[in-house]
Amino acid sequence: MIKFEKVNYTYQPNSPFASRALFDIDLEVKKGSYTALIGHTGSGKSTLLQHLNGLLQPTEGKVTVGDIVVSSTSKQKEIKPVRKKVGVVFQFPESQLFEETVLKDVAFGPQNFGIPKEKAEKIAAEKLEMVGLADEFWEKSPFELSGGQMRRVAIAGILAMEPEVLVLDEPTAGLDPKARIEMMQLFESIHQSGQTVVLVTHLMDDVADYANYVYLLEKGYIISCGTPSDVFQEVDFLKAHELGVPKATHFADQLQKTGAVTFEKLPITRAELVTLLTSLLVNSGGEN
Ligand SMILES: Nc1ncnc2c1ncn2[C@@H]1O[C@H](COP(=O)(O)OP(=O)(O)OP(=O)(O)O)[C@@H](O)[C@H]1O
Ligand SMILES: [Mg+2]
Repeated sequence: MIKFEKVNYTYQPNSPFASRALFDIDLEVKKGSYTALIGHTGSGKSTLLQHLNGLLQPTEGKVTVGDIVVSSTSKQKEIKPVRKKVGVVFQFPESQLFEETVLKDVAFGPQNFGIPKEKAEKIAAEKLEMVGLADEFWEKSPFELSGGQMRRVAIAGILAMEPEVLVLDEPTAGLDPKARIEMMQLFESIHQSGQTVVLVTHLMDDVADYANYVYLLEKGYIISCGTPSDVFQEVDFLKAHELGVPKATHFADQLQKTGAVTFEKLPITRAELVTLLTSLLVNSGGEN
């Protein structure tokens, strides 16, 4: 679906302020996958993300989205269809709401791409239902809603463009724990319906619970990638890079370091941890 080949990106190239933000990035987002991108502040996540939908063009290398190739020499006209294919929910997307009513705000995107008002509002209603915003709010001003509701409206606005890939940049930042879980469950259900999802996060538990592939970024380089289960086995490597691991992995690793148990593979979710510990208890009970 999306492929990066040796992508380099430099802000303000050929100037005294030139600063290189991405180094030789090779990356793939497979159709139907849930791909996570993690890394510290300033590691290049947002820069990389803007290459996913053609907002930035690589300084060197190429990004292929479906059948469109984006390189340093691509013309704006060639890149425009990429924006439709890949919908990006930027951090704090509620700051971009602007229409008089919730429904109009969500219908704005499709209308902007030439869909007639009535059809656009029908799509908007469908997406508002999908994100779980009750219809009593649809005719209200988006600014009368709570923070969590506003964010849902902004997400519905991106979904209304019916993108092939949904990209989320720290979508739960600033939400309380309950709203955070609800939001992650919403993305999970959207993914279950066949949507390709890319998630930028610094929460390892979210990566473990939802993603099926993960890339770790550090100072513009990919320093590790693979399935979360494989990547999170490298506990000491991740800790050395101050990236941390899921809670279940941390717990199991600490337990293993006492010498009391040996896990063939460290668990990454709470459910896996419970299963492993239960079988350990049952087995040790059998021996006694
Ligand atoms: N518009 C810009 N001009 C110049 N340098 C920039 C610009 N935007 C980002 N950078 C630099 O590029 C590097 C990567 O920044 P980026 O915003 O992609 O990181 P990030 O991983 O998204 O960080 P955060 O977690 O804080 O959102 C940083 O060194 C940053 O200072
Ligand atoms: Mg960022």
